[in-house]
Amino acid sequence: MPTLLLRNISRLVQVHDQAATVVKGQQMTHLPSLEDAYLLIDGEQISDYGRMADCPERADTVIDAQGGMVFPSWCDSHTHIVYAEGREQEFVMRIQGKGYEEIAEAGGGILNSARKLQAMPEEQLYESALRRLHEVRGYGTGAIEIKSGYGLTTESELKMLRVIRRLKQTSRMDIKATFLGAHAVPLDYRDRPDAYVDLLIDEMLPRIADEGLADYIDVFCDRGFFTPEQTARILTAGARRGLPAKIHANELDYSGGVQVGTAHNARSVDHLECVGSDEIAALLGSDTMPTLLPSTAFFLGLEYAPARAMIDAGLPVALATDYNPGTTPSGKMSFVLSLACLKMKMLPEEAINAATINSAYAMDVLDRLGSIERGKRANVFVTPPMSSVAYLPYAFGSQHVCTAIIAGQVV
Ligand code: NIG
Ligand code: FE
Repeated sequence: MPTLLLRNISRLVQVHDQAATVVKGQQMTHLPSLEDAYLLIDGEQISDYGRMADCPERADTVIDAQGGMVFPSWCDSHTHIVYAEGREQEFVMRIQGKGYEEIAEAGGGILNSARKLQAMPEEQLYESALRRLHEVRGYGTGAIEIKSGYGLTTESELKMLRVIRRLKQTSRMDIKATFLGAHAVPLDYRDRPDAYVDLLIDEMLPRIADEGLADYIDVFCDRGFFTPEQTARILTAGARRGLPAKIHANELDYSGGVQVGTAHNARSVDHLECVGSDEIAALLGSDTMPTLLPSTAFFLGLEYAPARAMIDAGLPVALATDYNPGTTPSGKMSFVLSLACLKMKMLPEEAINAATINSAYAMDVLDRLGSIERGKRANVFVTPPMSSVAYLPYAFGSQHVCTAIIAGQVV
């Protein structure tokens, strides 16, 4: 296997001699790292690391990090990067005073994206999604979860999931696919939303499962979208087909989404702007990863999720972008970290743990990604020289990635 050696690393961040596990509560401030280090990659895997004094002399390729830091690539465990077009008109409408839910009620929002996606050929959707994938790779993302949910008909949901399958086949990044047929109730079903849930369970889900197109099932369980009862039906049907849940919960209201998610052993419950002591108690008794998406709160002007209260109660939290055309037209993980620190009072070390180890857990890739460990997949990025890890969320407009490496290859 060809070897790749990174030399003169000022700090090798998130480095673990033993298998890293989920980081919660007070542990979240602990970020193991090694100063003045090298990193050796053999083929697609990390084979060794250590102090520069012990650096191997030869490798097939040598990169001088010139005093920059090396991080494990971000794991972005929640995105919607398969979509037809941006929604700048709604952005302008919101500047003029209309609300997100008001726009959705009037047939805009997710339904607007669905109309455009239904009309777009699969090839064109694939090409635009691939461009977004390459964009986020340049921001240091090495693993990404991608949802359907702008199809809302059987054929269009299948089309989206086939685009994601093709991305999986063509990209070296680690990709997970989530079936989000329950993203919004289509207009034809406005007066009979349960009939749409029936369609989703009886027609969409069997075809998706038979083709092996999804790794997870998701529901937007919130005010004006799907109820906890409908969510429970969908998650139960998904579990029968072998699909664990990752759900949208408690973005717009205390929706019961967190409770229904934890009761169904969801891998993650995401958003969580509306969280109080009942939701925290439900999460404490579960293996579900609470995942926060602060760039959505930023873009919609919502209250931020109470990250501090959650961590102080002993919970882990993960961070992800939610990259989508309606509520977060950005896939920049470092900006999410800046918001986590500035707006949710997370410390830089907590934010880095949340965007690496914990978000890797939220998409079931922690066994091979999320930290720098011997035997893990070599998805890392090199930064310019930085005086401390806090510089990364602090300098919120800077490009922090000089070199991105995915599965041992410079991209
Ligand atoms: O995660 N909250 C639900 N779904 C997306 C936004 C969908 C849209 O507006 O297009 C989200 O924010
Ligand atoms: Fe989302």
